[in-house]
Amino acid sequence: MINRESYMDISSIRSHFPILGRNVHNRPLVYMDNAATTQKPLRVIETVERVYKTLNSNVHRGVHHLSDLCTDEHEQARHKVQEFIHAAHSHEIIFTSGTTSSINLVAFSFGEKYVHEGDEIIVSAMEHHSNLVPWQMLCDRKKAVLKILPMSMKGELEIEKLSGLINAKTKIVAVGHVSNSLGTINPVREIIQIAHKQNVPVLVDGAQAVQHGRVDVQELDCDFYVFSGHKAYGTTGIGVLYGKEKWLNEMPPWQGGGEMIKEVSFSGAVYNDLPFKFEAGTPDFVGAIALGAALDYLEEIGLEAIAQREKELLEYATQKLQSIPGLVIVGNAAEKISVISFYLQGIHPYDTGMILDKLGIAVRTGNHCAQPVMDFLQLSGTVRASMVFYNTMEEIDLLAEGIERVRQMFS
Ligand code: ALA
Repeated sequence: MINRESYMDISSIRSHFPILGRNVHNRPLVYMDNAATTQKPLRVIETVERVYKTLNSNVHRGVHHLSDLCTDEHEQARHKVQEFIHAAHSHEIIFTSGTTSSINLVAFSFGEKYVHEGDEIIVSAMEHHSNLVPWQMLCDRKKAVLKILPMSMKGELEIEKLSGLINAKTKIVAVGHVSNSLGTINPVREIIQIAHKQNVPVLVDGAQAVQHGRVDVQELDCDFYVFSGHKAYGTTGIGVLYGKEKWLNEMPPWQGGGEMIKEVSFSGAVYNDLPFKFEAGTPDFVGAIALGAALDYLEEIGLEAIAQREKELLEYATQKLQSIPGLVIVGNAAEKISVISFYLQGIHPYDTGMILDKLGIAVRTGNHCAQPVMDFLQLSGTVRASMVFYNTMEEIDLLAEGIERVRQMFS
């Protein structure tokens, strides 16, 4: 059990993440690409090792001891996810390979059942490609229409326009909880209320949200909520789809195979109950168990403490970067997570990123898989520094010094 007090001590927190101790290009690593993937605490790494060393066996398939043990841990992980996002039932938690596959599952399965020619789907102008392209594909398949909830130059959604976009043909609204490219926290509770008033369900992409603060799917009243394990301190290849029971029961399976069936003959198949109906094939049970360990870790630190710490990092970094001549911060929403997207006037973001890398500072550059956002802002891309609770004020100083160096090199 972790002593919560120790979390006031950042060096103690950092000691939980072995990779943070390494050098890159002979300098201590400053890892600020957390929106792409977070680093893993020892507890998660050791969980993977423990499962492979002591438990490994396929789940839900064997009568033997190891299979039982592994199945128990896999299902415990499902309960941990249920508690973490406060879902009403554990069978509303579907394990997938990540946010992208969760959204594709809903776009396909919900789309098969409810979307017909001429129907409409609404996404926001701020979406990651993973919450845009699956809906475009659905619209192509069903001859449906995709409508866009606009955003402002500041990087906030114009939610006052939402009810005007919804009509009797609207089948679903899909919106990001937090923008990966700008860091904006969207008012999803309000969006859901507006959509529900007109009986339209809402999918929330929580890939950039669950790791930064408390999410309660029942309080939000969202119909679907999705996120990835690897952005929440778990491993790659595991993700979550939360769906309200009534939708998941009505939706057809997405993929066919083992585990998603009760009975099969050459004349057809009887599908399994939730959650297994949507989990064809051997699941990433090691990833699910490791995700459970990651969520335990986050709970022990405390989501509230994380949110507070990251708010302080955002404030300090914003103030520091704002004072650099020629640096433009892109995305100035009133509510943000600890992500700063920026560019230096006259310098390509890629060049900035490359030089920062040589200084040991890892940031992401480009359109961040949100090309329409960049098009709207008339930018080819930005540099994105995404910080989490294990980042330090000293690292922000190093980032600012690095940016200053880039500026001088190009002046
Ligand atoms: N979706 C991830 C990002 O925003 C990869 O960087």
